[in-house]
Amino acid sequence: MLTFCPMNETHARSILDWHYEPPYDVYDLKADDVEGAVQFFLNPEYAYHAIFNGEGELVAYCCFGADARVPGGDYDAEALDVGLGVRPDRTGRGQGDAYVGAVLDYARRTFSPSTFRVTIAEFNERALRVWEKAGFGRVQRFARVRDGRPFLVLVREEARSGDRPQRGLREGAVGDRP
Ligand SMILES: CC(C)(COP(=O)(O)OP(=O)(O)OC[C@H]1O[C@@H](n2cnc3c(N)ncnc32)[C@H](O)[C@@H]1OP(=O)(O)O)[C@@H](O)C(=O)NCCC(=O)NCCS
Repeated sequence: MLTFCPMNETHARSILDWHYEPPYDVYDLKADDVEGAVQFFLNPEYAYHAIFNGEGELVAYCCFGADARVPGGDYDAEALDVGLGVRPDRTGRGQGDAYVGAVLDYARRTFSPSTFRVTIAEFNERALRVWEKAGFGRVQRFARVRDGRPFLVLVREEARSGDRPQRGLREGAVGDRP
């Protein structure tokens, strides 16, 4: 059972200390300005949340909205952007589905989005696998402004009662949607 709470200063300082093994070290939240980074995580605009397991351990964090986007992507379509980071020692244990499922459930209850969107580095097959298994489909490939690194945008539309089932998203090829 995973629980969520808006990130506080203690959580933010812990997460700033997390270090991933290569090649996932690109997700380290290196900050020259630690105090500035802490304040950034506490900004409600970015909706950073700490995620706890049943023993009350901080095991992941997530964010919703602007900071889950990567400069260079096309984010004109309306969607709730989601970012997720599992604690480094908890990654690669086959629990990605549980983290992603819990984040989506929390986001549904909190934001009721019609569409979810995630942006993932193209090399990150582990993350792509877990989000695609959760029903997300690739809709866009772009180069990050800062360094040209390729990223993919994936979306999942939420079924509304009375809607016909959404088709084609899971199978969507990169660039096959506007
Ligand atoms: C991305 C993340 C949420 C995935 O969670 P996880 O618990 O580490 O993932 P899992 O161990 O469940 O693995 C997910 C799938 O990827 C597969 N996988 C693992 N390593 C892989 C690799 N190097 N290449 C391809 N597939 C891989 C697993 O076999 C599993 O597939 P399966 O369920 O069909 O067996 C987590 O690793 C994370 O937060 N990483 C750091 C931040 C990050 O990568 N962010 C990207 C945006 S979410």
